[in-house]
Amino acid sequence: MTRPGFATNTGAMGIRLEGQTAIITGAARGQGAAEARRFADEGAFVVITDLLDREGEDLATEIGSAATFRHLDVTNQQAWGELIEDVLDEKGAIDVLVNNAGILVFDRMTGTSQEEFERIMDVNCTGVFLGMQAVSDVMKQQHSGSIVNISSVAGLQGVGFQFSYSVSKWAVRGMTKSAAHELARHNIRVNSVHPGLIDTAMLEQFTEEGFTEPTAHVPMGRNASPTEVAELVLWLASNESSYCTGSEFVVDGGLSIA
Ligand SMILES: NC(=O)c1ccc[n+]([C@@H]2O[C@H](COP(=O)([O-])OP(=O)(O)OC[C@H]3O[C@@H](n4cnc5c(N)ncnc54)[C@H](O)[C@@H]3O)[C@@H](O)[C@H]2O)c1
Repeated sequence: MTRPGFATNTGAMGIRLEGQTAIITGAARGQGAAEARRFADEGAFVVITDLLDREGEDLATEIGSAATFRHLDVTNQQAWGELIEDVLDEKGAIDVLVNNAGILVFDRMTGTSQEEFERIMDVNCTGVFLGMQAVSDVMKQQHSGSIVNISSVAGLQGVGFQFSYSVSKWAVRGMTKSAAHELARHNIRVNSVHPGLIDTAMLEQFTEEGFTEPTAHVPMGRNASPTEVAELVLWLASNESSYCTGSEFVVDGGLSIA
């Protein structure tokens, strides 16, 4: 039986995002790029957004007609508005938003300036808020949508040497739940993803900071490839997760078990 606003999922394998339009932030490289490739494989049109124009353009060229690149600083509310308008003009709908853009710093609560704290919060937290707000009206009119916010294991635990980052990722988790509560009656789902150690440029910062063996703390004994996160994000973006909202999904090889 099919009810209004109740997704039908036959469980059959096939094109999982066929005909859908997805916006992914910070998608020129790393996890966002892996998500862009997987989404396009599954039939979506992907709007790759980032500050990194060359990498973003190259990725869009690699993916071909199923993708386009657009420069977007997630902290810029006006730019969000212009992006949404342009995507709607071209595609007529926005089905999926992945708030993936983020920055990592190693800092301690006692040594962090207000300016530095606000810089991290601006990108990792305000950027997610602005993205969710920007797509909400469109998704409400459609009476459908999936928003996936990329948090971290640092949004599940306290991390003394990543104070601002950890605070920002807890905020993403909290925003996800509050937004999910507000948007559920519009058939818009909002979930957070909590990656552990993922092999991207961001992880190289650990080595640069002198943390040479972070993998030693992972029960599975290895880092993940960005595609292992992309598979989870794809599932959350698709109707296969039709009854999941306001939840946190961990992909960390067991890092946050203890
Ligand atoms: N790599 C890890 O181990 C790990 C672990 C947990 C969570 N995460 C989170 O996963 C997400 C993706 O990170 P990644 O691992 O792919 O790292 P990454 O550094 O390769 O990707 C982050 C992307 O965000 C973009 N970005 C930064 N500031 C931006 C802004 N103001 N506007 C738009 N784009 C901006 C960067 O240009 C970059 O392309 C981030 O939110 C990160 O915090 C990463």
